[in-house]
Amino acid sequence: MVELAWKRGCFNCHDVEQKVRGPAWRDVAVRYRDDETAFGRLIVTVRDGGRGNWGNDFMSPNRRVPEEDIKRLVAWLLTLESER
Ligand code: HEC
Repeated sequence: MVELAWKRGCFNCHDVEQKVRGPAWRDVAVRYRDDETAFGRLIVTVRDGGRGNWGNDFMSPNRRVPEEDIKRLVAWLLTLESER
């Protein structure tokens, strides 16, 4: 999945452990740990872009990334807090 994240450009702005331009994916997983609606919402956010949830920076839309890949990436990153 790390390879896919590189291929789709996510890791230009993200890392699993550390904040880069965007939040560490482990922090994202921790924040939405008990939120059953997060999976669906985050897919839309990744596709259409987001701002205001993690600071002053924004995520530009990722509309060129196939929806299937966004789903796989979000499903994976939401599991990361349990792997520490
Ligand atoms: C151009 C830089 C950039 C790229 C490329 C990028 N992100 Fe982001 N991402 C950000 C920033 C900045 C934020 C924080 C936005 C905010 O504060 O709401 C963010 C937030 C997120 C969040 C949390 C959203 C929320 O509402 O809490 C997820 C999940 C995420 N990104 C996943 C991805 C995935 C998956 C990809 C690859 C398909 C990706 N990002 C590509 C910069 C980027």
